[in-house]
Amino acid sequence: MTTLFKNIKELIQVREEQINFVSGSAMKTLPSIKDAFLVVENGVISNFGNMDNCPNSEFDKVVDATGKMILPSWCDSHTHIVYAGNREGEFVDRINGLSYEAIANNGGGILNSAKKLQETSENDLYNQSKTRLEEIIQLGTGAVEIKSGYGLTADAELKMLRVIKRLKENYPIEIKATFLGAHALPLSYKNNKAGYLNMLIQEVMPKIASENLAEFVDIFCETGYFSVEDTKLILEAGKKHGLIPKIHVNQFTAIGGVQVGVKYNALSVDHLEEMRDEDIAALQNTLTMPVALPSCSYFLSIPYTPARRIIDAGLPLALATDYNPGSTPSGNMNFVISTACIKMKMTPEEAINAATINGAYAMGLEQQVGSITKGKLANLTLTKPINSYGFIPYSFGNHQIEKVYLKGEQITNKH
Ligand code: NIG
Ligand code: FE
Repeated sequence: MTTLFKNIKELIQVREEQINFVSGSAMKTLPSIKDAFLVVENGVISNFGNMDNCPNSEFDKVVDATGKMILPSWCDSHTHIVYAGNREGEFVDRINGLSYEAIANNGGGILNSAKKLQETSENDLYNQSKTRLEEIIQLGTGAVEIKSGYGLTADAELKMLRVIKRLKENYPIEIKATFLGAHALPLSYKNNKAGYLNMLIQEVMPKIASENLAEFVDIFCETGYFSVEDTKLILEAGKKHGLIPKIHVNQFTAIGGVQVGVKYNALSVDHLEEMRDEDIAALQNTLTMPVALPSCSYFLSIPYTPARRIIDAGLPLALATDYNPGSTPSGNMNFVISTACIKMKMTPEEAINAATINGAYAMGLEQQVGSITKGKLANLTLTKPINSYGFIPYSFGNHQIEKVYLKGEQITNKH
């Protein structure tokens, strides 16, 4: 199967050579080709260039993109889209003055979602989750990381991971799975955190490894949740089972989690709303990607990750949604990019780099997706007719997507 996209107004995020990620001032550059063509063969990008060099051979399909742009699909490296039910009651409680912390301390929050998930069958959980997956595909996401962490028992955590595996098998989008058993301490282990961590390490991790249920391990390293010492324990154990760390750190308080992440070669450290200078310094000259989640800041009215300080220090930055029922009930990467520009003062070029190649790196998919590069998967967004790519973040609350393609095939919503 061959497809030619021709007369593309601008082909965005073109990288002739494979790169891993972009950092610092290089994030200000978003390479593109105006008046371009793109050829896809059997789901893979095989050729592209200026229309002057457009091949005139036969193609199975030809798409005329006059006036429209093509970008690599968004790479959303941090989500929790496998969950049961919703928490709009807590949303109203927060409007009425309760804090996120107070709600969690009253048995709401993550424990509320865990209760719902434990009572939900694997099949029902799959059905609830696939609706969200289909939704984000239509919003232009072509690669996604999904975490467990709303199970909080061995059975329920494994149920979540099996649902993720089933989504991987049934959908053309790239999916990576993360074990986040250490998301909150369940009531059954109240005053026995060591026992809970031990259960995750002794009972759940070996099953994850033997059934190949996750690539990454995560922990909520935060005051009132899990400490720096707990984080070391989980990352160390994860390593023994071949799980690479990607951790929740510095969301509400900075307690040294970034340093632990770096020490254990975390692929990413995520949230980072509270960043001390020493946390930024710890990330220098490492292969750990900082990840910002602006929709979470928006929804909880907490500070935004200081993107300017991070990028101006020469570091890379990735953007992701954090789609989850408590802090971010939205998987819209278009909104993430707009919010990054509006609230974090990232330029459109920086935001698009952060949401494509850097997001791909943050989930170990930089060889497969995140740029227009020969040999990469043809996971693409065809925009509506627009004047410039700056219109994408500018038109906040909306999106400029006309069609989405995964492995070269147009994906239309079944619903
Ligand atoms: O990434 N911060 C920890 N976990 C989730 C939210 C959990 C919840 O409220 O359900 C997050 O924001
Ligand atoms: Fe999260």
